[in-house]
Amino acid sequence: MALARDPGVGQEQRDAADQNFDYMFKVLIIGNSSVGKTSFLFRYADDSFTSAFVSTVGIDFKVKTIYRNDKRVKLQIWDTAGQERYRTITTAYYRGAMGFLLMYDITSQESFCAVQDWATQIKTYSWDSAQVVLVGNKLDLEDDRQVPKEDAQRVATELGFQFFEASAKDNINVKQVFDKLVDLICEKMNESVNGETSQSVNQKADTLKDKPVTSQGGCAC
Ligand code: GTP
Ligand code: MG
Repeated sequence: MALARDPGVGQEQRDAADQNFDYMFKVLIIGNSSVGKTSFLFRYADDSFTSAFVSTVGIDFKVKTIYRNDKRVKLQIWDTAGQERYRTITTAYYRGAMGFLLMYDITSQESFCAVQDWATQIKTYSWDSAQVVLVGNKLDLEDDRQVPKEDAQRVATELGFQFFEASAKDNINVKQVFDKLVDLICEKMNESVNGETSQSVNQKADTLKDKPVTSQGGCAC
């Protein structure tokens, strides 16, 4: 017989408490106010969308567990406030983040111009190996487009970021963006593990080289 769940405990709290995962990645969504960060997260985590704009105060997070590359990955996704006045609070959360979604709105040149500043914030406050995906949101508003896709692709390439255009409203590329970020983090993690392994092998080799040759045959063993 299945145990009845406590009706007072929501799915989100159960997800957050779930210890059954292989990796946990902390990721942040950043970008100017009203580009659609909260909407993007709600689309991804709850498959919901509302056209009402309730600007985020400070910072909030949701947890979602996914299967990727045969691993159970628990994502802790932090949704930051885009408004300048919360900058001190939000940048405090950059440390320890393994990935960032840096978002602008394809109908707002101003939000795109701010991408460079956001990239600088990442460089200043986050871990060096943090992975970044640039996301041009509101792709459903093609008629109001102010930012050509080629411009954004060029900036992304210059900054070394992956790039997607997406729509939280029409659910275009939302899952793909998160999947890509998770893949990039996994790749980076594997690189670090392999790098460390080869580094320790090299260090061991150096130690052996430094050992005085004790036997006649020239063997340092
Ligand atoms: P802050 O919390 O102030 O930083 O803003 P935000 O980036 O979280 O923006 P939010 O998700 O609250 O969205 C701002 C407005 O844009 C809302 O009215 C949303 O409904 C709308 N919006 C978000 N994503 C899309 C989208 O993909 N297409 C369209 N047409 N509207 C969107
Ligand atoms: Mg918000």
